[in-house]
Amino acid sequence: MVNLATMNKIQIEDKEFEILIQNDNIARRTRLIGIQINVDYENRCPVFIGVLNGSFLFMADLLKEITISCEIGFTKVSSYQGTESSGNVKETLSLPDDLQDRDVILVEDIVDTGLTLSHILTEVYKQNPASVKVCSLLLKPTALKTPIKELDYIGFEITNEFVVGYGLDYNGLGRNLKDIYRAKTVAPLLP
Ligand code: IMP
Repeated sequence: MVNLATMNKIQIEDKEFEILIQNDNIARRTRLIGIQINVDYENRCPVFIGVLNGSFLFMADLLKEITISCEIGFTKVSSYQGTESSGNVKETLSLPDDLQDRDVILVEDIVDTGLTLSHILTEVYKQNPASVKVCSLLLKPTALKTPIKELDYIGFEITNEFVVGYGLDYNGLGRNLKDIYRAKTVAPLLP
């Protein structure tokens, strides 16, 4: 039997991945973000909206650290094919429709180009919420195509590499991995 708990390297289809962030590190960071949100939203009742599929593990672990009163919802969009963002955002599960005057916290697995998030933010603002913030486990700052002022809670900033695990997938696979792995780059062949 293969033990996926803490392996330094894994293979998914044609790609090799190596460990980037271990689960205990993710857990520590998630706990700190939770504490910060509990302080920032004291005596309020925010609505956390998880962006599926990638955020399902982070959303669950983050919400276990939230001690203030809150509500939870989900939305689902798709924009990725393989390892490239198509930039073509498709909503496949609508946002909750009762966000007027609410404090909204969008929970993302990763912000890459930011195109998905910009699309969701536009839709959220149409409902006139009281406030909107974004909590993303990962951010690839050099890949961002548009600045996002709502991005207040970030777990880890990473370089512009493809990652899998802890909710993130490669062609639908790898979401169940406890840790986060990055795609190994293949060294160019010398002439
Ligand atoms: P963006 O629109 O380019 O910011 O991409 C956002 C979505 O693409 C994320 O919510 C992920 O689902 C997916 N994504 C972006 N980068 C990666 C990655 O490195 N691995 C897996 N999925 C990714």
